[in-house]
Amino acid sequence: MIRTNRAPSPSRREFLAAAAAAPLGPAALAALATAAPNPGMTVRTRVGTGPISIASGNGLRACTRAVELLKQGADPADAIVQGVAIIENDPEDQSVGLGGLPNEEGVVQLDASVMYGPTHKAGAVAAIENIKNPAAVALLVLRRTNHVLLVGAGALKFARLHGFQEENLLTEKSRKAWLKWKENLSPRDDWLDDEQRDPTVGKAADPLAAVTPMHTTGTVHCSALTAGGDLASCTSTSGLSWKIPGRVGDSPIIGAGNYCDNAVGAGGCTGRGESCIVNCAAFSIVSKMESGMEPTDACVAVAKRIAAHTLEIRRRAKDGRPDFDVSLYALRKDGAYGGACLFPGGTFAVHDGTAGRTLPCTPLFEKN
Ligand code: GLY
Repeated sequence: MIRTNRAPSPSRREFLAAAAAAPLGPAALAALATAAPNPGMTVRTRVGTGPISIASGNGLRACTRAVELLKQGADPADAIVQGVAIIENDPEDQSVGLGGLPNEEGVVQLDASVMYGPTHKAGAVAAIENIKNPAAVALLVLRRTNHVLLVGAGALKFARLHGFQEENLLTEKSRKAWLKWKENLSPRDDWLDDEQRDPTVGKAADPLAAVTPMHTTGTVHCSALTAGGDLASCTSTSGLSWKIPGRVGDSPIIGAGNYCDNAVGAGGCTGRGESCIVNCAAFSIVSKMESGMEPTDACVAVAKRIAAHTLEIRRRAKDGRPDFDVSLYALRKDGAYGGACLFPGGTFAVHDGTAGRTLPCTPLFEKN
C-alpha cells in the first residue's frame, strides 16, 4: 500500500452521501451571481471542520494564501486563483506568469484553467500574451461566459475588456535563457554557439554562460477544499519553454492538467503536458479516487499509465522509461491528499489549515 496523507476520513459512501446532501445554498448562489468583474473575494457562509489546500512543489505560498482566504470565508475559486497569482507575479519563477520562459520566438504565451466543484463549471485561456495572471482571466471565463476555453488574441481581448493591463512578461533572465537556447540550437545557423564565439568573448565573460538551454515544463497547480466540503482547482503555466508558437499544453485542458468533481475530489498535473493530455491525467486521478483508490495510489496509477503509454521511441530513454517527468496531485473530498511523479525529486505543497509544508511526491520509478 502506498503512503497516504490524510485527515480522518469517512468512507467513500459517507462522503458521497454528504456531498449529495449539501447542495449549493442560497448564499453561495447569491455570491456567485454577484461575482465582481475583476476577481475579488466572494464570501461564503457555510461552515465546517477546516479548509485545506494542496499545490505543486512551487506552490507553497499559493496554498498558504488560499487557506488564509478560505478561513476568511472566501470562495475556493477566488482563494486558489489569488494564491496562484503570487506565483504568477513572481519573476523568479520561470514556469508561470511574469518571467515565464518564452516560445521559440521569444514571446511568453501563458495557459491556465480553473474548475469549480459546486457548479462543475470550468474556465480556461490558452496561448494568451501580455497578461501575467491568466488564472484570473480563466476564472472570469468560468463566471462570465457560456464558454470554457478562449485562446490567443480572443483571450487577450477578453482580458482587456475586463480591465486587465497588458505588460511585457519577458524578464531579462528569461530573455537571456531564450537567447542562449537560440544560439546553441545548431552550429550551422548564423547564431554563434558557445563554442563558436570569438575567444575574446570567452565563456567566463559570457553573461549567458550559466543559463541552461534545456526545454523545461514548469507549472503551478493549486486546489482547495472548503470547510463546507466544496472544491476548486487551478493550473497555470508558461508551458514548455521554446515551444512552437501557439502550442497549448495540458494546463488549460480540463481533464488533462486540471479537473475537479465536487463529490469526489480534485486532480492536477505538472510536467510534460502532451503526455497528460493523451492520458486524460487529471480526470483519471479523480476517476480512480471515485472508484475507491487512495489519493497517492490514484496518482501513482496515472503515472504508471503515462509511462506505459509512452510508446514513441524518441520519448524513451535507453532503459525504455520516459525521458521526461510528470507530477500528479490529488485532493480528495474528505481532505486526504497525495502526489506522485515518474522519477524521484518531485514535491508537492500542502496547507492543512494549521501549517504549510512541502512533501515528496511518491515516485513511480526508483531513480532516473
Ligand atoms: N504542463 C505544462 C505544459 O506542458 O504546458
